[in-house]
Amino acid sequence: KRRVAILISGRGSNMQALVEAAKTPDFPVEIALVLSNRPDAAGLVWAEGQGITTAIVDHKLFKKDREAFEKAIQVELDKVHVEFVCLAGFMRLLTPWFIDQWYNRLINIHPSLLPSFKGLDTHARALEAGVKLHGCTVHFVRPDMDAGPIIAQKSVPVLDDDDPDSLAERVLAVEHALYPHALAEIVRGLEGDLTIKDERVIGIRPIG
Ligand code: GAR
Repeated sequence: KRRVAILISGRGSNMQALVEAAKTPDFPVEIALVLSNRPDAAGLVWAEGQGITTAIVDHKLFKKDREAFEKAIQVELDKVHVEFVCLAGFMRLLTPWFIDQWYNRLINIHPSLLPSFKGLDTHARALEAGVKLHGCTVHFVRPDMDAGPIIAQKSVPVLDDDDPDSLAERVLAVEHALYPHALAEIVRGLEGDLTIKDERVIGIRPIG
């Protein structure tokens, strides 16, 4: 199994979905670390309860020195010998230095169908735009925010009576299915048929 670290900032429901998936015998990944930049992240408590190694790297202790913050994260990652890092509701922008350390091994889930609605408040903005399909995207991280090669996407309908909360809930349910699928596909693809050509990911089977 490939060792993976998950970076969170809060609730950690996507982290939970990855941990639960990793419990199934044929899932090709083992969760070696859950790291939070917020000491009070609810997801940390849950991960500890699962017996998973956890770490806190509080960005507030590094003032505005993002690279020092990331070097402290890197120290924690080095300790657990992971091959991939999954961002799961990790709400800090990462510098090119860190992204370079994990090139094509750093994965994020974003709550929209990229390239639409990069950034924050994606559900409110989707409603405002009147789109009829919304969803989530798992992608490799690049220095431009929410702009890396897309690994997998899943859509949900937008309903007439949705508000941002009801839409977020519908998207979150598919996030929890998509992220484990995408991670497993990447790991499986490493065995041979995964390539990134012109910043497009080739060789991922779509989620059923
Ligand atoms: C998820 O919807 C995730 O896609 C989103 O934050 C939520 C975290 O929930 N991520 C971003 O907006 C990244 N910019 P979770 O902590 O329960 O997984």
